[in-house]
Amino acid sequence: MTKIHFQHPDGSVTEIEGTDGDSVMQTALDNDVDGIVAECGGSAMCATCHVYVVPEWRDKLPAMNETEDAMLESASEERTEGSRLSCQIPLSPDLNGLRVILPATQV
Ligand code: FES
Repeated sequence: MTKIHFQHPDGSVTEIEGTDGDSVMQTALDNDVDGIVAECGGSAMCATCHVYVVPEWRDKLPAMNETEDAMLESASEERTEGSRLSCQIPLSPDLNGLRVILPATQV
């Protein structure tokens, strides 16, 4: 199990214990965390699972591929240094304690 902290736009935080191998996006959906839409179901084709990864965790994530990089350009909220598609981040013990900030809107 890997613990993820989802920080909402109002500053509140939802802490979830996820299953290793599941994506951050799937973990949010399975636990009714507001703020992730995931229209494409995890295929990196919609950008409605956009999250902002806090600085201390960015280097620990798997590298971004070209598809994710291109798709983030169409995210509803502004892209920043911490922007990632949460469907492209699989949980692993190395990510225990990961904190992501949810954008105000996804569409
Ligand atoms: Fe569509 Fe992540 S769920 S890009």
